[in-house]
Amino acid sequence: CGIVGYVGARSVVDVVIDGLRRLEYRGYDSAGVALVYDPDAAASYLEFDKKAGKLANLEAVLAEQDRPLDAACGIGHTRWATHGVPSDRNAHPHLSADGRIALIHNGIIENFGQLRVELEAAGIEFLSDTDTEVAAHLLGREYAVDGDLTEAMTRVCARLEGAFTLLAVAADDPDTVVGARRNSPLVVGLGDGEYFLASDVAAFIAYTTEAIELGQDQIVTINRERGITVRGFDGQPSEGKPFSVDWDIAAAEKGGFETFMAKEIHEQPQAVADTLRGRIDETGQIVLDEVRMSDQDFRDIDKVFIVACGTSYHAGLVTKYAIEHWTRIPCEVELASEFRYRDPVLDRSTLVVVISQSGETMDTLMALRHAKDQKARVLAISNTVGSTIPRESDAVLYTRAGIEVAVASTKAFLTQLAACYLVGLHLAQVRGIKYADEVSAILDELVAAPGKIAKVIENLEPIRQMARDLAESKDGAARVLFIGRHVGYPVALEGALKLKELAYLHAEGFAAGELKHGPISLIEDGTPVVAIVPSPRGRSLLHDKIISNIQEVKARGAKVIAICEEGDAITASHADFVVETPASPTLLAPLLTTVPLQEFAIELATALGRDIDQPRNLAKSVTVE
Ligand code: G6P
Repeated sequence: CGIVGYVGARSVVDVVIDGLRRLEYRGYDSAGVALVYDPDAAASYLEFDKKAGKLANLEAVLAEQDRPLDAACGIGHTRWATHGVPSDRNAHPHLSADGRIALIHNGIIENFGQLRVELEAAGIEFLSDTDTEVAAHLLGREYAVDGDLTEAMTRVCARLEGAFTLLAVAADDPDTVVGARRNSPLVVGLGDGEYFLASDVAAFIAYTTEAIELGQDQIVTINRERGITVRGFDGQPSEGKPFSVDWDIAAAEKGGFETFMAKEIHEQPQAVADTLRGRIDETGQIVLDEVRMSDQDFRDIDKVFIVACGTSYHAGLVTKYAIEHWTRIPCEVELASEFRYRDPVLDRSTLVVVISQSGETMDTLMALRHAKDQKARVLAISNTVGSTIPRESDAVLYTRAGIEVAVASTKAFLTQLAACYLVGLHLAQVRGIKYADEVSAILDELVAAPGKIAKVIENLEPIRQMARDLAESKDGAARVLFIGRHVGYPVALEGALKLKELAYLHAEGFAAGELKHGPISLIEDGTPVVAIVPSPRGRSLLHDKIISNIQEVKARGAKVIAICEEGDAITASHADFVVETPASPTLLAPLLTTVPLQEFAIELATALGRDIDQPRNLAKSVTVE
C-alpha cells in the first residue's frame, strides 16, 4: 500500500493524489484522502473521501464533491486488503467516533481483536471490518485528553502490536500531520517550508530530493511552522537520518515504453552493468557495500541458507548451484514464509543470505530476525538502500536496478542474479580460492554479460510473435509448461511465474527430468512446453538429457519452444520453435535465458488484454506476513 502526507503551500489534494499515483506500483485495491481546511482559525474542519478500485475512482468522487483545493494539510492512502475485503467502507482513512480525527494505516495491527472488544464495550460503533479502525478510535479518545496529536499518537502506539505505519490529521490542528512507524516503511521529505511523509521517496521526488529516514518505533510530526520533529515510541526526542535521493523523476516514468515492465526489461543491460560496476577492487577482490562481520566470520561459515520470496526466491535457487560449485559449502534455498516455522538448524557458522528487492517484505524480514535470534550471520541482497532488511543484516550488497515500478520483477531479478554471483565469488575468495582460475574467468564473463543481455533484447521479435500466435490459439491460452535442468530449472519456474502473474494462465515450471514422474499427464495435443536448454558445449550430458525430455513431450503432442544457445543445431532439429541466446558459462546462463521468458509473458498478457504493470491481486511490496 501507499501512504502520503503533506503540509505546505501547494494544493494539498494535488500533492497527495500525485504522490499516491507515484506509489501505484506498490499495488492497491482502494484509495482515500483526508483533508483539513482552515478558512478561519476558529472553524477548521476535516473532509474525507474514499473509494474502492483505482485512483481514478477516488478522483471522480473528489470532482463530484467539488472539494476546495486550498486545504491546509492532508493525508492519502492506497490500500491493499489484509483485514476486510476491498470496498469503499474498508478503504482508508478511518475516523474517530466524533469524526474529528482521520487516520490511515499500512501493515497489520495484530491485537486489533482485543482492542475492538474493549472499544465496543465502551460504546463505540465500528463502521468497517478493518484492523485500522481501532487505531482511529483509540487516537480520537487519546486526543480528547489533551488536544495534542503527537502525544496522543505516542500513547496509542504503546497499545498496538504488529507492523504499522500510521498517519493522522485532526480537524482542530490544521497545520500538522503525525506519523508513526514500526516494522513498516515511512520516509520524510524535506522541502522549502513544506514537508512530506510517504511510504517511499517516489511519492515526493517531483518536489524535493532531500529526505529523512526514520528508525523503528519512531513518531514524526510535520508542522507548517515548526517543521519536523521526531521522537521515539517512549516519548523521548530522537532524530532521523538525512539523505539525498539520487533517483530522478524521469526514472519513475515510462520513458516512451507502453508499460513500465517493458521499459524495465530494456533497462536490464544497464542495471546489471551498474550492479557489477566498482564491485571488484584493485587486487581483484569483491567488495560488499556494508560489512559488519569479519573475514574470519566468513571463513567460519559451514552452511548457507538462502531465504526469499517470489522472484527473489528464484534468484536464490540459481545461486545455490553457483555457491555450492564455487565454495563447496552446502547451500539450501528456502521460501521465507516457511523458513522460521520449521525450526531450521542455524548457528554462528551459518550464513543466511536474504534476497529482497524492496528490502521490506515482511516474510523475509521475519525470517531474517529468526536467523539472527539463532545467532546466524545474515547477508542481504536488496535494491532499496536504507530499507529494513539491509539495515538489520550483518553484511549488504545492493543491486543497482534503480526503481522498479512494474509489480512483476524483471531488472531487479537480473541484478539479484549478478549480485548473488558476486556474493558466491566473495565467499570463495575470503575462504581461500580453490577455483582461482575459474573465479577470474567467471568475473570476465560477468562483465561481458550486459552486452549479451542487450543482444537478447535486440532479438525478441520472434518470441513476441510466438506469444501472439499462442494467445490466438485455444490451446495456447489455456496452459503453458516450462521445463529446465540445473540452473535452467529455476529459470523455468521464473518463466512460469511471470506468465501466471501477467497473463493469469495456468503456467508451471518443472525440473525436466521430473516431468515423466507425474506432470507429463498434463500434456495434450498442442500444449505449449517451453524448454530452457543448457549449452551443448562442456556439460553436454545435461544437454543430451533435456533433448530426451523434449522428445518425451513431443511424442505426447506438445508444441516445444526451446530457449537455447546460438548455433545449437541439435535442439533446433527437435523443437518446433527456437529462441537463441549468446553462448555463456552454464552457471551464468540465467542472466540471458530469463529475458525471452519475460517478453513472452508480457506479450501473451498484452494480447489477452491484461494490466501489465499492475496485475490483479498482486502487490509489489508485501509488508504483511
Ligand atoms: C511480491 C512481488 C514479487 C516479488 C516478491 C518478493 O510478491 O509481487 O514480484 O518477487 O514480493 O519481493 P522482494 O521485494 O522481497 O524481492
